[in-house]
Amino acid sequence: MSFELKSKNITSPKRNVLLSQKAEELLNFRIEQEEYSSWLYLAMSNWLNNEGYVNISNAYKKYSDEERVHAQWSRDYLLAMGITPVTPTLKQPKNNYQNLGEILRLTYEHENLVTTQCNTLCSESLKLNDLLLFNLGQKYLSEQIEEIERTRTNLDRYIIAEKEGNLFTFEQSFE
Ligand SMILES: [Fe+2]
Ligand SMILES: [Fe+2]
Repeated sequence: MSFELKSKNITSPKRNVLLSQKAEELLNFRIEQEEYSSWLYLAMSNWLNNEGYVNISNAYKKYSDEERVHAQWSRDYLLAMGITPVTPTLKQPKNNYQNLGEILRLTYEHENLVTTQCNTLCSESLKLNDLLLFNLGQKYLSEQIEEIERTRTNLDRYIIAEKEGNLFTFEQSFE
């Protein structure tokens, strides 16, 4: 479309008034972070699989797929505003872990970090008076309520299972 406009010597329309430069940066950051979450959980899934925690490995593969969906929320938003999202360079996630407990603890800590980021996305969108962006930020935050609860419960159940020598049942019932 823009190519056709240029060929007719008509200048491209100016930037969509609904999307500031700052909002674009916030959304590209969100994409990068959700993609990183996806890679992190994929790395954890691989480690778990090779350690025999097949059921938990499958759950982490599912978590990894969910994070990619979250990244897509921001991509779709940018695309709807006429902006090409940045496909980020990701840092390498940790590939080796001491034990299952370390994975569950790091997952809980990671989700807490992401929650703080999503909260910042909401507060920044209010500073920009960008209520559409605030709406998307709320969607991310609501998702975090579920993720924090899930990862906290997994960690608590693991601690109990380890104390009671019940790790096999824990593995089998992991969702
Ligand atoms: Fe996410
Ligand atoms: Fe998450």
